[in-house]
Amino acid sequence: MHSTITIMNAKGGVGKSTLTLTLAETLSAVHGKRILVVDSDAHSSVSTMLMRPDWVQAIQQQGRTMVDYFITVVLKNEFVNWTAFVSAGVSDVDDARTVDLMTGGGHLTLFEREVSKEGLESRLRHAVRNFLNEARSSYDFVFVDSAPGLSVLTECWLREVDFYLSPSKPDYISTHGLQFLGAFSQRDTEMGFAHCLGVVISMKDINAFEDSQYERWLRQNCKHTCFDQVIPRATSLQTAAHFCPRPRSYWAKYPGETGKALRQLAAELLVRNSAALTRKGHRPDRAAE
Ligand SMILES: Nc1ncnc2c1ncn2[C@@H]1O[C@H](COP(=O)(O)OP(=O)(O)OP(=O)(O)O)[C@@H](O)[C@H]1O
Ligand SMILES: [Mg+2]
Repeated sequence: MHSTITIMNAKGGVGKSTLTLTLAETLSAVHGKRILVVDSDAHSSVSTMLMRPDWVQAIQQQGRTMVDYFITVVLKNEFVNWTAFVSAGVSDVDDARTVDLMTGGGHLTLFEREVSKEGLESRLRHAVRNFLNEARSSYDFVFVDSAPGLSVLTECWLREVDFYLSPSKPDYISTHGLQFLGAFSQRDTEMGFAHCLGVVISMKDINAFEDSQYERWLRQNCKHTCFDQVIPRATSLQTAAHFCPRPRSYWAKYPGETGKALRQLAAELLVRNSAALTRKGHRPDRAAE
């Protein structure tokens, strides 16, 4: 049994897309996992991190984005195979050969407005569930990179994926996003909600006293179940967002201590994921370990 995970913090700019990118590339390059990244943000950040921006644009113009898939299934009520909306073998890391992408689209907001206007929320939720059930059987991990805030589609992901993972910067406002999400998860509990795999402290300046203070504060809250490994603020992670047309090795893209931190984080995720799947009653298999 494999996992579907949304990367979510209601606050923007906390490192959600970068965490999605680095986990996908690390789990592919180091552990050989099959990964599907679903870009559920109108800004298509993770799409342009994983693919040449002009290719992303071409896919958007051809109507082959994640948004176009849900427009067909939900607004048009037509059957279409989701695999036709997947770009295989993305990423500029030449040893991350098992990362696929469902590209984001700028018309996401319009789509969500139509869903609400037509009262199609339950059809959307059903479509999200069917999609995840099928994608789960083809991949070890499906990562959904969410937009900040809580939209109609983001709520569907949060209620239908197995788990969510929350990056948070060690600062005051980013922790508000976590509180908001935590409070939301407690509402309408009969509708179901993903289990939290934990909070990943991101963009930590290892020399800043304030960052250490906020880190301590985040860790003190047992609800956060923070990952031991922190993602440091690093130039290589800032530039990782810039897709490199010439493929490079994992070790070149994520050198030294930064790469070590990412690999440690991915290893921790594998352990937490296996334990959480077992708690959910799924028999862990080799692929998800
Ligand atoms: N560990 C890091 N070190 C340095 N820069 C980082 C790090 N993580 C992310 N960044 C940079 O910080 C900015 C915000 O990161 P990112 O886009 O991943 O956040 P986000 O939560 O997805 O934002 P949004 O809410 O807008 O989708 C980007 O410019 C990214 O390159
Ligand atoms: Mg983002």
